[in-house]
Amino acid sequence: MKKVYIETYGCQMNVYDTELVKAILDKHNYTLTDNEAEAEVFLLNTCSVRENANRKVYNRIQQFKSKRNGDRVLIGVLGCMATNFRQQLLKDPRLPIDFIAGPDSYKRLPKLIEEVSQTGEKIFDVTLSEFETYSDVYPSRSGGVNAWIAVMRGCDNFCTFCVVPYTRGRERSRDPENVVAEVQQLAAEGFRQVTLLGQNVNSYRFEDKDFAYLLERVSTVEGIERIRFTSPHPKDFPDSLLRVIAENPKVCKQIHLPLQAGNDRVLEMMNRTYTQKEFLDLVDKIRNLIPDVVLTTDIIVGFPTETDAEFEDTVRVVETVQFDSAFIFKYSERPKTVAARRFPDDVPDEVKTERIVRLNDIQKKISYQKNLAHVGEIHEVLIEEEKTKKSPDHYQGRNDGNKIVIFPKGEYRKGQFVNVRILDATPHVLLGEVVEILDK
Ligand code: SAH
Ligand code: SF4
Ligand code: F3S
Repeated sequence: MKKVYIETYGCQMNVYDTELVKAILDKHNYTLTDNEAEAEVFLLNTCSVRENANRKVYNRIQQFKSKRNGDRVLIGVLGCMATNFRQQLLKDPRLPIDFIAGPDSYKRLPKLIEEVSQTGEKIFDVTLSEFETYSDVYPSRSGGVNAWIAVMRGCDNFCTFCVVPYTRGRERSRDPENVVAEVQQLAAEGFRQVTLLGQNVNSYRFEDKDFAYLLERVSTVEGIERIRFTSPHPKDFPDSLLRVIAENPKVCKQIHLPLQAGNDRVLEMMNRTYTQKEFLDLVDKIRNLIPDVVLTTDIIVGFPTETDAEFEDTVRVVETVQFDSAFIFKYSERPKTVAARRFPDDVPDEVKTERIVRLNDIQKKISYQKNLAHVGEIHEVLIEEEKTKKSPDHYQGRNDGNKIVIFPKGEYRKGQFVNVRILDATPHVLLGEVVEILDK
């Protein structure tokens, strides 16, 4: 029984994939350990979305190698940097990596590890599949309140900045009945919330069943009280889907709506397939149907050739929409992408920094105002932690809109629903007191 240690970088899909890998290895006589010092197999599930994610992984491997120098440890790279590492390894065979497995190769992992340890030869398995959805693997989750569940994998959108279509391959969806069976099992294990995952989750399609259908089906599972999903693309919000979100009480009134940029020329270069006006119209439509909806977004500043005036369009959209929160990134050129091949990364880093600082400042004020507006209201909160980062005397959970709510500890526990009166706010959290324990 080899001891395996695994570390995860990147998005929720990678967190989920790590749970798949754990389940697969567990079935094949490996034991998992949280202590890297005793690892016989050291795995990194990697992210490639921006250059700093890349750098972190290289540093981590060097650091681990120097700590465990002389020990017999196999080092494996999984996830979105797999193809990338394969090229690096071909260039520099001394890189301390024994094997590489891409996002669609995890079922072959036990065999691969065995082979490497027997032959001592480096192995890569990075082939992407058009079909693999791991629907026959039940992930090894560490328990809790929310379970992540991938309902589709891959992405066919090819936004010109994004490496994901190259690292994860084509879009493919799971059979809805298979998803529902997994959600039933999760409910039986005590999970109260599921978050449906996909690189492009609302493009979900299985035969004639679309994402609206899937949400409705999942909502019939008893015991699951809240359903969330991430990440959607603005192009795939038909009215039927918006109606399900508006009308189904289990589907949380929260939508992550990645804007990326507010200027039409930049949006076109990014291949986002919508204009500023179409995006704003979608926001209006969503707010008309779901008045209390919480909207969050992703934005990239400093895309190739983006001028100051074009960046101001992004600022204006942010000020107009008033998102509840936003993740803002500096453009980072990724190998293989259309942008890397066709558009030189010509916005200087200082300019990207100025833009990100300015936009973060603006968004922080908006987030704070939005959160302060909740003071005095009563929110239904699902308790997720019986402590907070800062205090052992406080619990935390989330409201329907996915905002973190912090309140003093008391006669209630993780996994329960409570009503909390909001008393104060910061740009990032709501603070309050429990006024009622609900037994959902
Ligand atoms: N599939 C998801 C998100 C993928 S990556 C979606 O479409 O929403 C998450 C975020 O990282 C993206 O929304 C984008 O804002 C950012 N991102 C992706 N590629 C990037 C790049 N090359 N440089 C900077 N940010 C990037
Ligand atoms: Fe990347 Fe665009 Fe696909 Fe999202 S929709 S994963 S940003 S290509
Ligand atoms: Fe990163 Fe891959 Fe997710 S590139 S953001 S781990 S899909």
